[in-house]
Formats: sequence, C-alpha cells, structure tokens
Amino acid sequence: MKRAVSYDDVLLVPHYSDINSRIEVNLGNALDEHIYLDIPIISSPMDTITESKMASTIARAGGLGIIHRYNNVWEQTKLVRDAVSCDLSITVGAAVGVTGDYFQRSAELIDSGAEVLCIDMAHGHHVLMERAVKTLKDRYGELVHIMAGNIATAEGYEHLSTWGADSVRCGIGGGSICSTRIETGHGVPTLQTVLDCAALDLNAKVIADGGLKSSGDIVKALAAGADFVMVGSLLGGTTEAPGKTIAREGRRYKEYRGMASREAKMVWRQDSSYSEGVSSIIPHKGEVTQVLERLRQGIASGFSYSGARNIEELWSKAEFVIQTTAGRLESSTHILNR
Ligand code: XMP
Repeated sequence: MKRAVSYDDVLLVPHYSDINSRIEVNLGNALDEHIYLDIPIISSPMDTITESKMASTIARAGGLGIIHRYNNVWEQTKLVRDAVSCDLSITVGAAVGVTGDYFQRSAELIDSGAEVLCIDMAHGHHVLMERAVKTLKDRYGELVHIMAGNIATAEGYEHLSTWGADSVRCGIGGGSICSTRIETGHGVPTLQTVLDCAALDLNAKVIADGGLKSSGDIVKALAAGADFVMVGSLLGGTTEAPGKTIAREGRRYKEYRGMASREAKMVWRQDSSYSEGVSSIIPHKGEVTQVLERLRQGIASGFSYSGARNIEELWSKAEFVIQTTAGRLESSTHILNR
C-alpha cells in the first residue's frame, strides 16, 4: 500500500539564502498567458467566502476570487457585475456546475465580465465533468480560463487536463469543513495529491485546494509543485466574507460552512437528508487585506528559508523531510502544552 503524506507530516529544510529582505521575493505566477496573479491565493467558490466584496478585494490585492454558484443565474451574474463594476481592471472568476443550466449560465457569466470559469464538482474525475469541460472549452476556451475540479489523483489531473482544463483544483476531502473522507472513506492527503499531480509536469496549473491552515502550509503546497492555493477557512470570518456577523458572549463571529453541509444544502437545495460537510463559526478577523498581507509575508519568509526568490526557484530548491510525532510536537508552539 502506498504511503501518502499531508502538510503536518512534512517540513521544508532551510537552505542557504542570499535574500536580504522579504521584498526581494516575488510570489507572482501566471494562471495563463492572459492572467497573472501577484499572490498565489484563490478564494473558494463557497457561499460564506466569495461574493462580490471578496472577489474584488482579493483581486485588487493580487489574488483571485471565484464567485460561488449557489444561487440563480440572475443573482450570480449580479455578483460578478458588482465585483467587476467596483474595478474594471480586475479579474473575477465564477463557478458553474456540470448539469442543469451550466452552459447558459456560463454564457451569461462571461457576458457579465467573468474571465475564469470554475467547473465545480466534488468528485471531478467524472463523466459529467468530462462532458462539461469539453463543451465549455470548445465553446468558450478562447474567451476565458477554464478551471476544473476537484480531483485526488494524478490520473484525475491528467484526464481533466486532457479534456481541456487550464487549471485543476487538486484535493478531495481535506478542507476544514469537509466530512467526505468520514462519510465515504475516500480521499488522499492533499499534499500527496499535489506532489503526484505536479510530478506529471503538464500544462494545466495545479491548485492545491483545502486543508491549508497557515502560511507555512501554503509554502509547503507551493514547494510540492502547486502553482496556486485555494483557501476557504483562512479567509473566513473577514469583513469581506459574505454573511452576517454573529455576536456571542461578547465576541463577533461569521458562519463558515461546507457547500455539502446540511445547512448549505437546506438553503440551496431544500434537502438536508445527507451531508458531506459541516457548518461552523469563525471569530471575526477584520479586513481581508490584512489577512492576505500576513499570509503574503509568511509565504515570502518561507521562500527565503528555502533560498528562493520566486516560485521556480522554490520548486528547484525545496527539500522535504518527513517529521516524527515528536518532531510535529516540537514544530508547534509547545510552551502552551507544558
Ligand atoms: P479550507 O480548508 O480552506 O477548505 O476551509 C476549503 C475547500 O473545501 C472544499 N469544500 C468541501 N469539501 N465538503 C467537502 O468535502 C464540503 O461541504 C465542502 N465545501 C467546500 C472546497 O474544495 C473548498 O475550496
């Protein structure tokens, strides 16, 4: 049986560095020949993470937001237009499904200003994904970037890439609100998925999706070969995350829920009989620009520990070690456990 590692199983070995300041590090990467991101962070298409405010703010900060699809076409196109009207120079993405109105919805999202279509399916290595990617690539591939997922294996990544995806969301069941692995017994530790997919060296960009808890995890994902990361919980609880602020015992929170959670399914499908996700609350974190700036600094510091000025250098210089249970304890702020 193959062993599979995830973020907490590994560490990056510090290497000789001639980087004097974090500002010498360039975190930018091209999503395709038309779209360049200054920071490698993409916000998840979830109803408690990405609507207009998040999409426009993260885009202005150099990342990308994917507006969720848990609404009707009119509502989603309005969210896209509101994000792009804020600032016509920014890139905004929008998610679509693989059945129902996905084709017509894609047309209207593109008309509204979306430049990235994210074909969003929990188990994306699937015949319906094949049909959707081929159809949308054929019709709109010249106009927009086609992102697709999620997959857990190199074979899944290769297939989505061959079908026409320009980028692939890699990771199944590792997200903070996921219960897919518990309910179904399926999944692969996300860092392993990233390592396996990146090793194929195909053109489709690798997006490490789910389970990133810190800037350190983001550095590990990128060092493993990811081009970008997709995050939900790291951006949850911010002012720009959709949803009301909840006051509880003098503290402020925002809801953060899996799109397959009972709570989300009740709202969007009027059916909560089965779930593969949970709903939670996240303490209020303030403006997302501050959260992104802290992440940016942590990631840049991580690049510097590997002696890397940019992502290509990180890929060539990064060296992973597997840590033991004692190593993992040592890696945490262990004074708190004494
Ligand atoms: P983080 O760890 O950043 O994860 O909060 C966000 C990612 O989790 C995925 N996602 C789900 N996975 N059940 C799942 O198994 C769900 O209900 C669910 N909702 C979101 C998705 O890939 C997202 O980017």
